[in-house]
Amino acid sequence: MHNKNFKTVKHSRTTITELMLPAYANFGGKVHGGILLSLMDKVAYVCAAMHAGTYCVTASIDSVDFLEPVEVGELVSLKASVNYVGNSSLIVGIRVISQNVKTQIVKHTNTSYFTMVAMNDDHKPIRVPGLILETPEEVRRFIEAMRRKEYKKTYMKKTEIMTTPEEIDNAVLLLKNENCLLKENLL
Ligand SMILES: CC(C)(COP(=O)(O)OP(=O)(O)OC[C@H]1O[C@@H](n2cnc3c(N)ncnc32)[C@H](O)[C@@H]1OP(=O)(O)O)[C@@H](O)C(=O)NCCC(=O)NCCS
Repeated sequence: MHNKNFKTVKHSRTTITELMLPAYANFGGKVHGGILLSLMDKVAYVCAAMHAGTYCVTASIDSVDFLEPVEVGELVSLKASVNYVGNSSLIVGIRVISQNVKTQIVKHTNTSYFTMVAMNDDHKPIRVPGLILETPEEVRRFIEAMRRKEYKKTYMKKTEIMTTPEEIDNAVLLLKNENCLLKENLL
């Protein structure tokens, strides 16, 4: 069953825990979003490279919502696992939690899905091992990733042309309740 061209999810499951240092704070005293994004990219890379057995690049991120602020001094843990494998791409699901060590309060701050592409030495995408699904949870995540991929394709098609020339001509009306100002004689 454990063919060498297939790997389990647990083979590449990765957790990184990092202390949020004062140097990571933004002007509001909370942890800067870019720090968390960088950690997410790092854990996605580790997980993807472990599965692929080669180096990988980040192709896409779906999507990043910061649900709760992260405080300096908290421990941020990023749990990553391969949710889906295509031909040369794999989708890594990442759950980010932040823990206050004194109060033991744990916050769920993000869940994101990183699409990583495995590359060969000539920087061309190469085939990655398939995924052995061992639990109903892993099956659910694989199917959900397939659905998100399909949904994104449809969404991208629908949003290719978002405005018509007529809408631009009628922008004064269209934007009258928006928080913007059209330069005089623009249209
Ligand atoms: C990602 C990259 C390698 C894809 O190259 P490409 O020429 O489009 O390659 P392909 O068309 O063969 O696609 C390869 C795979 O990537 C997937 N892919 C490509 N772009 C994607 C995107 N934006 N979102 C999701 N998947 C994507 C394709 O679906 C395909 O998956 P599959 O092999 O499992 O079917 C290329 O766009 C690249 O190098 N991007 C820059 C990556 C990078 O530098 N990341 C760091 C950001 S600073």
